[in-house]
Amino acid sequence: MFPLSRGRRLRKTEAIRQMVAETHLSVSDLIAPLFVVEGNNKKEPIASLPGYYRFSVDRAVREAHFLFSQGIRAVLVFARIPVGKKDNTGKEALNPRGLLPRAIRAIKRAVPELCVMSDVALDPYSVYGHDGIVTGRQIDNDATLQVLAKMALLHARAGADFVAPSDMMDGRILKIREILEHHGYQHTGIMAYSVKYASGLYGPFRDALDSAPAFGDKKSYQMDYANAREAIREACDDVAEGADIVMVKPALAYLDIIWRVRQAVKVPVAAYQVSGEYAMVKAAAGKGWLHEQQAMLEILTAIRRAGADLIATYFVYDFLRLQGNENAAF
Ligand code: PBG
Repeated sequence: MFPLSRGRRLRKTEAIRQMVAETHLSVSDLIAPLFVVEGNNKKEPIASLPGYYRFSVDRAVREAHFLFSQGIRAVLVFARIPVGKKDNTGKEALNPRGLLPRAIRAIKRAVPELCVMSDVALDPYSVYGHDGIVTGRQIDNDATLQVLAKMALLHARAGADFVAPSDMMDGRILKIREILEHHGYQHTGIMAYSVKYASGLYGPFRDALDSAPAFGDKKSYQMDYANAREAIREACDDVAEGADIVMVKPALAYLDIIWRVRQAVKVPVAAYQVSGEYAMVKAAAGKGWLHEQQAMLEILTAIRRAGADLIATYFVYDFLRLQGNENAAF
């Protein structure tokens, strides 16, 4: 009770504040998304993700090298598939010489200690931009599972440390775990996008991969943002099916969900600070309406405080720049 109790004594100096900080943000908590494209020596800007790029495999390898040298421990690789290779069966997703397996192999060969995670979903390969095979106007869950499982096996063979199914089909974790076990990949992990909401914040990512849905929306498989209990169900189901890490996505508007999932499971919880979350900060900062680094650190720390062990974020470069500059003062 005041005046015996004075909260401000613990906020008096930077040293004290650092000593009593309850949450820490470290570069090893961050997962860097990596977009790859066909071609050589390519580094393509993405208009709606300022400061973020798509790389050809050779450049992606250099990028992976750089990120690892700066302390980043994991990349999450996504491929932009040329329109001519898209269909409704996911054929290109199962091509052993496809872009994503080539990228995984090249990165793993060049930077073997880096944890390589690969996206498993059909949307970049789908003429409809949906995460599964389309029959009529429905997304066929069980037909999609067959393709996802084979895709995961292909990535494991290419050297992925973790496959990361982002599709939200029911039962895919079990199918993937089974096929990996069956082929001797019992040490390949699964980072499940267990709690993925049908969000309005994925726009810049869909620009990056040219993967916007051609009809309808993703609400029949991604979750309704009105729901929280359902998040626990999805996360627990995925753990039971063999997920090593569960993910909540997006992050900032879902801190309560991260918190609940953190309480409900014993595996690491990742949060994906998605493209729209990054774009909002960049856009406002670009207009001079907020301080970008301050906003970034506050949001990333909040995501950690809510219970995320790992954060996939497009802010990796900004975070590294900040770390390199010890005198950065806010
Ligand atoms: C699709 C996928 C999406 C993201 C990751 N994987 C978009 C979607 O579901 O349409 C979004 C990531 C981001 O916005 O940064 N499998």
